[in-house]
Amino acid sequence: MQTAQWWRTAVIYEIYIRSFADGNGDGIGDMTGLTSRLPYLRHLGIDAIWLTPFYRSPMRDGGYDVADYRDVDPRVGNLSDFDAMVTAAHAEGIRVVVDIVPNHSSSEHPWFQDALAAGPGSAERDRYIFRPSGPDGGPPNDWQSVFGGAAWTQVADGEWYLHLFDTSQPDFNWANPEVRAEFESILRFWLDRGVDGFRIDVAHGMVKAEGLPSVGGAHTGLLEQTTLPYWDQDEVHEIYRNWRKILDSYTGDRMAVAEAWVASPERLARYIGPDELNQAFNFDFLLASWDAGSFRRVIDSSRAAAGIVGAPTTWVLSNHDKQRHRTRYGSLQRARAAALLMLALPGSAYLYQGEELGLPEVFDLPDDVREDPVWFRSGGTDTGRDGCRVPLPWSGEAPPFGFSEGPSSWLPIPADWSSMTVEAETADPDSTLSLYRTALGLRRTMLTGDMRWLDTPDGVLGFERADGSRCFVNFGAEPFPLPGQPKLTSGPLVDGGLPTDTAAWL
Ligand code: NOJ
Ligand code: CA
Repeated sequence: MQTAQWWRTAVIYEIYIRSFADGNGDGIGDMTGLTSRLPYLRHLGIDAIWLTPFYRSPMRDGGYDVADYRDVDPRVGNLSDFDAMVTAAHAEGIRVVVDIVPNHSSSEHPWFQDALAAGPGSAERDRYIFRPSGPDGGPPNDWQSVFGGAAWTQVADGEWYLHLFDTSQPDFNWANPEVRAEFESILRFWLDRGVDGFRIDVAHGMVKAEGLPSVGGAHTGLLEQTTLPYWDQDEVHEIYRNWRKILDSYTGDRMAVAEAWVASPERLARYIGPDELNQAFNFDFLLASWDAGSFRRVIDSSRAAAGIVGAPTTWVLSNHDKQRHRTRYGSLQRARAAALLMLALPGSAYLYQGEELGLPEVFDLPDDVREDPVWFRSGGTDTGRDGCRVPLPWSGEAPPFGFSEGPSSWLPIPADWSSMTVEAETADPDSTLSLYRTALGLRRTMLTGDMRWLDTPDGVLGFERADGSRCFVNFGAEPFPLPGQPKLTSGPLVDGGLPTDTAAWL
């Protein structure tokens, strides 16, 4: 394991646990399945895993609707399975970062059930955001849910509660000290169990503007929407300053990474630094379009903003909320080049399970297996995020491809994924899995220190790291003559030149 501030250069692998590996044959990924596959992750060469929510949950939003923050959902395992997983991960040299969901709980959380029972004006209701009807008898304001539809639901006694996401995800009232104390205690609970850090869900959303002002028709509904009275309020930072003190009070270099969709790299940088969080996801990189200029601009602005606070930048191409980047960029060739670009940049990189196999987005899921609330709340007009959450193919010739010993998986795996199983790609030196393994291995010995751009023709990005190693990516049509012998390329060279949509490390 790397030691001091390991997260500064770490490659962190996102585990969407329901879709990673099933240990008991019921078709749902779980803790023992994950533990059994840790040797695969060590061999891949990652430094840490980020585990999406595994807490007790009705699973209306894939576990981002937590009913008990201190227990493991029975479908996923139990606390001793969790402890065994952490011990095994640490033995493999892999750190464990867990998701924490502080903006909202499940409507089945005992606090919300108490709030419903206790009625208007009660201390129980004050843990959430309840309000009387607006002047027209409708919702208290015009806020919209990120998942579509109104952000308010009315309860039997006439009050409304706020849910920026699904109706089953009521927002906590972070102005209430009890809520703050509860989450500090939850952080300690998991830190005491040995986790190395937290990924903070909706880190930009916990504080709402005083008076909950209407937005007057401002477009809503997108996670990327940033200038609204419930996103990125200045007071949210006080919460993280307290959390950082807790993290730093533990031995062993614990960290936290924010999921924050904010207006600019400068706003994002405010979440990180010595007295706040260690990292924030850099979604501008994920959103960059496939051209040299767009990537260069994002790399420059991200580095400049992170530099202000002395923090490392982070890079991410895919996650469980976004269309897989192979599909977004339009080809496996581009996806492979993007991976080499990301892994050559200074800072830390987040991988999403399955990108190392080159998995595409799945579009043709049967309607009756879809689970994403986005699908339900849009009345089936938005297929949502299930297409990037299809379980991993591990081995064999037919679904569920070793994901489960049972007959099927919770989302069906396309029958034509037999060439993209871990088994098939391990055997193929030219596979995407082999590319990732080689890249992650090389990353330990090259590509260190700061970076500077090199002079390259239009359409080609080239940069050099402090140790003299270089990365080139050709987004243009003409082959680019490489200035040396590559150590690794994302695809074959053509007459010694780097062809379009290809990257090389020298
Ligand atoms: C962001 C998570 O990544 C997403 O999956 C979830 O639906 C929302 N936050 C709400 O918790
Ligand atoms: Ca299972």
